[in-house]
Amino acid sequence: MLELYDNPSRIRVRDKFFRLYLSRDQIDEIVSGIAGRIDHDYSGKTPLFLGILNGAFIFASDLLRKLQVQSEISFVKYSSYHGMASAETVNRLIGLNEKVNGRDVIILEDIVDTGLTMAKLLEDLKEYSPTSVKIACFCFKKAAFRENFSIDYCGLEIPKLFVVGYGLDYNGAGRNFPDIYQLDETV
Ligand code: IMP
Repeated sequence: MLELYDNPSRIRVRDKFFRLYLSRDQIDEIVSGIAGRIDHDYSGKTPLFLGILNGAFIFASDLLRKLQVQSEISFVKYSSYHGMASAETVNRLIGLNEKVNGRDVIILEDIVDTGLTMAKLLEDLKEYSPTSVKIACFCFKKAAFRENFSIDYCGLEIPKLFVVGYGLDYNGAGRNFPDIYQLDETV
């Protein structure tokens, strides 16, 4: 059990090997940076965070515990990824069940890749007339991005790598690693 938290430089998730990409300290610094910016921009407001399950649950929990502003949180669930590739179609598995009408919404996503998942949620949100909608994501694969929305709070731009850990999975596994690992194809 201890091995997860020992900061190994290489891990195995299912049939693949991954090597350390971003340490928990670097992750912490990035999340603190996002929290500081949101605190600044939302002073005196009570934003409603909408986390996208499954991946964003760890980022959401870390971010909320760093914020000074009052906030509420709810989650939606969309599924688009199979294995290591975007599935091209996005399925809504749990919809919006909060009253987002008239609220300042901040969407929380672990990673924006093609942008398809986020585009679908943005489309769904229009029905509920929020006062404002902003996007916070832990990381962004700019080179894979195919949509045209802008990301208001982006923790880190990363190349087109496949990564696991910190909520990100490979076929459902690997979300629990405190650090982020990239696919190691040299093995
Ligand atoms: P998009 O719809 O292509 O932007 O993909 C967004 C979703 O795909 C994210 O919420 C993740 O669940 C998943 N995803 C994208 N890239 C990766 C990755 O490198 N590792 C694990 N999951 C990923």
